[in-house]
Amino acid sequence: MKVIVVGGTGTIGRRLVPALRSRGHDVVTAARTSGDIHVDLTAPATIEAMYRQVTAADSVISVAAHGALDEFTTLTSDRLHENLRAKFYGQVALVLTGQHHCADGASFTLTSGIFADHPWPHVTGGGVISGALHSFALSAAIELPRRMRITVVSPTLVDDPTPVEDGGTDLGRHFPGLRPIPMPDLVDHYLRCVEDNTTGTIIRAY
Ligand SMILES: NC(=O)c1ccc[n+]([C@@H]2O[C@H](COP(=O)([O-])OP(=O)(O)OC[C@H]3O[C@@H](n4cnc5c(N)ncnc54)[C@H](OP(=O)(O)O)[C@@H]3O)[C@@H](O)[C@H]2O)c1
Repeated sequence: MKVIVVGGTGTIGRRLVPALRSRGHDVVTAARTSGDIHVDLTAPATIEAMYRQVTAADSVISVAAHGALDEFTTLTSDRLHENLRAKFYGQVALVLTGQHHCADGASFTLTSGIFADHPWPHVTGGGVISGALHSFALSAAIELPRRMRITVVSPTLVDDPTPVEDGGTDLGRHFPGLRPIPMPDLVDHYLRCVEDNTTGTIIRAY
């Protein structure tokens, strides 16, 4: 299958892309400054341009763009809105624009996160983004044309084996006590979203 991985150069993406390739998929990675082609989830014109460059994709996976941490007592609706731009509106645009460009039966796999269901200090924005993505996917699953599918992977913290000095993440310091998911287990969830026939499914990877 022809698969676009937005964020294919990131912590999850750099493990997922080789796994997809080892299963015979033709993978194109996309990100703002890295990857095979450039796209910025906050810039809808670049999403349209990406789909014109990679035509008739069979699968689009997004593992890009975090919600920012916030401080509830000084949070404003404007800041919350700004926080939604890349991870919520950007992933939504991948689907809304992609439905006009991707192949019949194409799948979209988005990434949310555990804070949709489990509140944690300083992630009001992250929780809102992830909860909204889940609701969007439920609607999209019944509305997408041409047998297209949508799934969302909602991970807890990922156990990334890459050392920080080699570009690994130290995200865990913000979430002491949150039990991480092993990277191979998380990669398997994304592979299933591409290769199984499921739609409207939210995979709570924790
Ligand atoms: N890592 C975790 O423990 C964890 C846990 C739960 C959920 N998640 C979620 O999983 C997703 C991926 O996380 P990650 O840790 O793999 O992220 P990461 O290591 O920060 O990598 C992000 C990737 O997305 C690209 N990117 C960032 N902003 C972008 C934008 N506006 N437009 C297009 N590409 C963009 C980056 O490349 P460029 O810089 O070149 O654009 C990079 O390839 C995120 O939504 C994150 O919130 C991660």
